[in-house]
Amino acid sequence: MPRFAMMSTLAALVAAPAMAEIPAPRATELEHMVIQDCGSCHGLTRKGGLGSPLTPAALSHAEPEGLALIILDGVPETAMPPWRPLLTEEEALWIADYLLKVDP
Ligand code: HEC
Repeated sequence: MPRFAMMSTLAALVAAPAMAEIPAPRATELEHMVIQDCGSCHGLTRKGGLGSPLTPAALSHAEPEGLALIILDGVPETAMPPWRPLLTEEEALWIADYLLKVDP
């Protein structure tokens, strides 16, 4: 591989946050969804409401894979609905990463 190509590959790896791969426009939609839809129960700033707080601090002990499963399947016997009809597994993982890494 020519040296410049390798350099730009490395730069891309460093620049990209370690989040699930989602096209930028879809990521913007998901971010809106977190604020609007999830926010209706978890609070616009994710500090909690009917649902528990979803800030990086509140979720610091959670694994992204576990959160993604909760997002996909909901929590039985609670108001937390399953989002599987609306999200792919990749997208749920992206949201989990977002909740864990991005402060509201
Ligand atoms: C209708 C209300 C409602 C909506 C909308 C909702 N949630 Fe929830 N969610 C809850 C409730 C209630 C719980 C707490 C369940 C429990 O008691 O364990 C919860 C729990 C969770 C948990 C587990 C938190 C933890 O500390 O284990 C995650 C993650 C979560 N929700 C993410 C989301 C995401 C992401 C969305 C939007 C795609 C969303 N929720 C939308 C009500 C909601």
